[in-house]
Amino acid sequence: MKKFKGVHQIKGKLATINSSQGFRVYDERLVRKGGKEYRLWDPFRSKIAAAILNGLEEFPFKRNSNILYLGASSGTTASHLADICPDGLIYCVEFSRRMMRELLQVTPRKENMIPLLADAKKPETYMRRIASIDVIYQDVAQSNQAEILLRNAEIFSPKHAMITIKSRSINAVKSPKQVFREETEKLKDGFEILQKLTLQPYDKDHILLNLQTKKGK
Ligand SMILES: C[S@@+](CC[C@H](N)C(=O)[O-])C[C@H]1O[C@@H](n2cnc3c(N)ncnc32)[C@H](O)[C@@H]1O
Repeated sequence: MKKFKGVHQIKGKLATINSSQGFRVYDERLVRKGGKEYRLWDPFRSKIAAAILNGLEEFPFKRNSNILYLGASSGTTASHLADICPDGLIYCVEFSRRMMRELLQVTPRKENMIPLLADAKKPETYMRRIASIDVIYQDVAQSNQAEILLRNAEIFSPKHAMITIKSRSINAVKSPKQVFREETEKLKDGFEILQKLTLQPYDKDHILLNLQTKKGK
């Protein structure tokens, strides 16, 4: 497993330094060590943590990265990115009002998380509320996942992107291998594929692609 800035190992488990001391987002364990408080990062709840454990080679999230997070849900993974990027902003796009209500329990405690109730398929509805984006992370489990990412990338011109792909959300009849191949091909329109990772044993349904924007795009 590669080491990345902002990602720590505590008692053999992944962790991030809690930017809001004493605050838990999803019942994760808090551990104090060397005057700092760490939040253990559960790979069964968070696909980026699973990807790190499964051999992710390049980590696009830096201390000052601005991230567009599509499909933020209640903020489990987004809150760890908020810890990793304390000098950046995490724009959290979520279209379910129910999940947004839960996310709004988290964002007042993590000041660099910006909640946006919006549909990731319509970036023109939130583009004016966002200054600049370094990385797009997408985890939406929708039928047209590649198109959603390409459309957002066209508008926000990030240097990097990461996407999780769920084959059953795209086509339940085709084999997962075929669906993953087809989605990867579509993404090659805008991105170089740096790495493709399966997330087993933490997540059986998804693969994760680490992407870099093609030069000249
Ligand atoms: C698998 S969950 C995300 C889990 C989250 N990324 C995490 O690790 O903490 C997918 C989320 O995407 C949201 N979603 C699906 N389609 C969306 C869309 N078009 N726009 C915004 N959010 C969407 C769903 O409401 C759901 O909360």
